[in-house]
Amino acid sequence: MRLLIMGPPGAGKGSQAPLLKKTYGIPHISTGDMFRAAIKQGTPLGIQAKAYTDKGELVPDQVTINIVKERLQEPDCQAGFLLDGFPRTIAQAKALDVILKEMNISLDAVININVPDDILIQRMSGRRMCRQCGASYHITNIPPQVANVCDVCGGSLYQRKDDSLETVGNRLEVYYKQTQPLLDYYAQSGLIHHINGAKDVEDTFNQVKTILEELHDFH
Ligand code: AP5
Ligand code: MG
Repeated sequence: MRLLIMGPPGAGKGSQAPLLKKTYGIPHISTGDMFRAAIKQGTPLGIQAKAYTDKGELVPDQVTINIVKERLQEPDCQAGFLLDGFPRTIAQAKALDVILKEMNISLDAVININVPDDILIQRMSGRRMCRQCGASYHITNIPPQVANVCDVCGGSLYQRKDDSLETVGNRLEVYYKQTQPLLDYYAQSGLIHHINGAKDVEDTFNQVKTILEELHDFH
């Protein structure tokens, strides 16, 4: 299964990812997670990315395209993949088409999670992430069993720098300007499926599963 998961910041892409990864046995490729790992390690990529991610701006296309291209060529992607947070611009989408064509593969589906802005803001501002394994929580919606401790690995939880209220507004603006046009791009190729992500994680996942099961039956 080769999937894209799309949606505005805070829509729940990263929260659906572990469920999809487990159900379909595919790696989760999140460019945001890749940038955060590089920032944590202080690599040249991390230093470059930090200047953009801290402000909620997009990292330049060519930098982002290169890291995805390399990642898709790793052996675990032969089983398929879930791309989360990439592509985010028309240029990235076109580059992805070229990469996939070179690899002789194509996407099975693009899932777009719709969530109204007021809920997105509430989700981003209450999000907590595990420093160790990257698992995502929410102070009221999805609290960990022990405050500030990851249920999965026991790591400590932190708030993403770009989840501050000042940055959240810019991320939404950047999304509507630069990423939302991709919905038309994928509508033209007939790959897109829209779901309502305003309810809980399980409800959202059930909608995704229904779409993917129908696709499977159809083929
Ligand atoms: P990235 O990490 O991709 O951030 P994003 O797209 O802004 O999306 P988020 O991770 O904020 O949201 P999500 O949809 O994953 O939501 P989550 O599941 O965590 O990108 C970060 C930055 O990196 C960008 O700003 C940019 O600078 C750079 N970057 C990344 N990719 C790039 C690219 N391709 N090109 C250029 N630059 C790029 O959920 C959010 C919260 O809500 C959590 O607290 C969660 O617990 C809670 N929640 C989730 N689902 C539900 C639900 N159904 N009900 C209740 N609560 C829920
Ligand atoms: Mg995410």
